[in-house]
Amino acid sequence: MPVAKISPSMLSSDFSQLAVEAKRMYKNGADWLHLDVMDGHFVPNLTWGAPIISAIRPHTEAYFDCHMMVSNPAQWVDDIAKAGGQMYTFHIEATQDPLGLIKQIHEAGMKAGVAIKPNTPIDAVVGEVAEKCDMILVMTVEPGFGGQKFMAQCMPKVEALRNKYPNKDIEVDGGLSLETIDASAEAGANVIVAGTGIFKAEDPAAVIQTFKDKVNKAQKDKFKTI
Ligand code: DX5
Ligand code: ZN
Repeated sequence: MPVAKISPSMLSSDFSQLAVEAKRMYKNGADWLHLDVMDGHFVPNLTWGAPIISAIRPHTEAYFDCHMMVSNPAQWVDDIAKAGGQMYTFHIEATQDPLGLIKQIHEAGMKAGVAIKPNTPIDAVVGEVAEKCDMILVMTVEPGFGGQKFMAQCMPKVEALRNKYPNKDIEVDGGLSLETIDASAEAGANVIVAGTGIFKAEDPAAVIQTFKDKVNKAQKDKFKTI
């Protein structure tokens, strides 16, 4: 049964204090940290790349969940692996050769994730790509910026993927908060990314714990019915 993993998005952290923020989230109960890599081309925004990720690496034991919003995902695999990335999630919309890319990511010693944008149907990944990937990320906002509104219309995609792949990690990213966690957990997502919903909360530890409890309960209920 997939267990809950809560992955605070460092996009909402204080960028002048990345190591401190990473430590703070780990202490608050997050086992993963979500690192949004944007190239200003696949999405209209820029963040950081391997040098910054490698600078944060010695300061935390958290699992590095790298969301690659880049036009040429094959280009950064080795750099991110060397920087200490552990999950390398590429966008299916950004590659012609997903199977080759998955192989490259695995050979570099990382887990491979595949992401779909809100308007991309699950058919784009169902089959060999999903089977070979360790995680599927269903975007619940248009990638590029934090603080956007959760798109509940993406939930049927999560549900369909969960029914097809009962044991795989399924991640949701964008607009996750105490208001939107129930829909995501019930649809079957077990990896929860949240930037604003965690970093701007008064009590981030309580939010992380609530997310975990809701996801684990929903997964338990689902497995009972299979
Ligand atoms: C958006 C990023 C998200 C972002 C989510 O393109 O992929 O990871 O940080 O931020 P919130 O949780 O604020 O919607
Ligand atoms: Zn992200």
